[in-house]
Amino acid sequence: MQSLSKIRKKKFRYPKEVKEYLTVRETQAVYSGKIDIPYQRVCNCKPTNINCQTPKDWIKSQLGVWQFTYEKRDIRDRQLHPATFPISLARKVIDLFSHRGELVLDPFVGSGTTLVAAQDCGRNAIGFDLKKEYVDLCNQRLGQNLLFGNTRQLAVQDDAFKIPAYLEENTVKLIFTSPPYANLLNRARKNKSRRGEERKNEQYLKVEQYSQDPRDLGTMSLEKYTEEMGDIYERLLPLLKPMGHCVINVPDMWWENKRITIHIALVEELRKRGYELRNIIIWDRTNIVNRIGIFGWPSNYITMGTTFEYLLDFWRPRET
Ligand SMILES: C[S@@+](CC[C@H](N)C(=O)[O-])C[C@H]1O[C@@H](n2cnc3c(N)ncnc32)[C@H](O)[C@@H]1O
Repeated sequence: MQSLSKIRKKKFRYPKEVKEYLTVRETQAVYSGKIDIPYQRVCNCKPTNINCQTPKDWIKSQLGVWQFTYEKRDIRDRQLHPATFPISLARKVIDLFSHRGELVLDPFVGSGTTLVAAQDCGRNAIGFDLKKEYVDLCNQRLGQNLLFGNTRQLAVQDDAFKIPAYLEENTVKLIFTSPPYANLLNRARKNKSRRGEERKNEQYLKVEQYSQDPRDLGTMSLEKYTEEMGDIYERLLPLLKPMGHCVINVPDMWWENKRITIHIALVEELRKRGYELRNIIIWDRTNIVNRIGIFGWPSNYITMGTTFEYLLDFWRPRET
């Protein structure tokens, strides 16, 4: 179990200066004007460089298939949040597509993994989520490290659609997120990808949905979801600096023996809304899934969604 729950049990007390900082954060959670958050580079890299990487790091990033492992700080308790990605994944994307001091935005921030990674990398970052519980969890995770570094990371409870009310245009260097997957998780889990006894684990027959709030993208049909994502991302485009990247992590899903190609729907929709697709990277998850169940044998071949996901890498074209 996570250190966060230990903190709760121990009645963790923040030092005074952190408490003051958190009070400011809480005020900002209901603030409806522009947020004063730094967004300028603090490194000495050439203006045309897209990141602070050395040639050695750059070569590693050129592989089109990435793998990550979880670390202790990762939230893997599905009661705290049902769908997190590893901090190391967010760190890699941030390191690749921004410089130290620049601003990273996560419109669906969940437990705050992107913000924790931004803190590690010396980037300023802001994240949004509909659910207060998740926003509190994020700010609590960040609070553990508040006294180190001179960048700011902040989670705000609001609808991603409203983000332009909080940020100035041309200030965000990278948008990175893992959004909900339409209403495809809004059903009782059968755990078909699990083997044997693991199938009837604590998630069995549970609906692992973030909320039933009608603004929650996880409640929408694929058609409505795609349009809504398009509307949100169209509003985010002017916030992004020209040639700033926008990376979306999604899997495809299976529904009644049909592959639901969420990644294709999003590529088509974001292209319509002014983004240019630069790359598709595969996040190979085979090192972190174990004992997957047999599915479809011997007559119906399918690839298991749990073994890989897409990282859709777009940018804002120079002229928009
Ligand atoms: C896949 S999770 C993000 C998980 C995150 N990457 C992490 O590591 O914890 C998607 C999040 O989107 C949030 N969400 C759904 N609809 C939203 C909306 N309209 N505006 C803001 N957040 C929303 C959900 O509450 C959920 O926490």
